[in-house]
Amino acid sequence: MSRPFRHLLDIESLTRGEILTILGLAQKMWEVSERSVKKVPTLRGKTIVGLFLEASTRTRSSFELAGKRLSADVINISGSGSSTSKGETLLDTVKNLDAMSPDVIVLRHSSSGAPHFIASRVRCAVVNAGDGTHEHPTQALLDCATMMKHKGSLEGKTVAIVGDVAHSRVARSNIHALTKLGANVRVAGPRTLMPVDIGAMGATVFERVEPAITDADVVMVLRLQSERQEAGLIPNTREYSRYFGVNSRNIELAKPDAIVMHPGPINRGVELEPELADGSRSVILEQVTYGVAVRMAVLYLVAGGTLDEG
Ligand code: CP
Repeated sequence: MSRPFRHLLDIESLTRGEILTILGLAQKMWEVSERSVKKVPTLRGKTIVGLFLEASTRTRSSFELAGKRLSADVINISGSGSSTSKGETLLDTVKNLDAMSPDVIVLRHSSSGAPHFIASRVRCAVVNAGDGTHEHPTQALLDCATMMKHKGSLEGKTVAIVGDVAHSRVARSNIHALTKLGANVRVAGPRTLMPVDIGAMGATVFERVEPAITDADVVMVLRLQSERQEAGLIPNTREYSRYFGVNSRNIELAKPDAIVMHPGPINRGVELEPELADGSRSVILEQVTYGVAVRMAVLYLVAGGTLDEG
């Protein structure tokens, strides 16, 4: 059997078939997490290094759980606890880790392109756990898995992505994934937080939330990423919330069975009303649950797993 995935660096370079392959495998992995003994020997003897040089709760812990549920040995390194804090370059850090013969390095980094840069310079597989404002491929995969659980095929479904699109690697990966899966993607947010090239990616751009979410099947709310913003992109968070927040009033414009998603962490009361985040339309914690299954599938594939053995 040929090895189907050498690395997972982005969604843009995946085909629709490859996306569906990962999602199909994730469904099988989901079943492992439903068992009372949540462990299979699939990756016994394999080593996974998580190198998280930017903060993370969900991605980091779910990659670690995913590796452990497949019986791999997993270690995690964070920026403050690593020699990058003493000035070591990213390349030196990953070459030193690669010298210890891991099978997979999972990298989160604040620079767009960092996983691509290291992938051609190490022997092990590299998985992008979020790079700058570029892509967050496993987030888009877990988002698609969650949407498909609720909506079935995404062909012809309308997904509205609302908020700080300019700084969102989640939005970029989702637009690539959703357009490949046949969904109609709308994006909405202030002009200052909307990349100029976003229409070319296949999304329809709205300057107001209401028309974007009207009759949508899925409303995906993005975090306002204050840490990545220059000053002055929005007047203040109260005004942002008033004009671009998703709340129990404007959600009524979406389809009656529309689901509400958010990649987390949530700025409660800024981009999303707390009652909606915790309400019956919300699938936010299901997204987190799918994160483990999707990351199990990805780790299995890049660690050399074949589809016959899956
Ligand atoms: N969604 C997401 O990437 O969350 P974390 O930053 O907590 O990993």
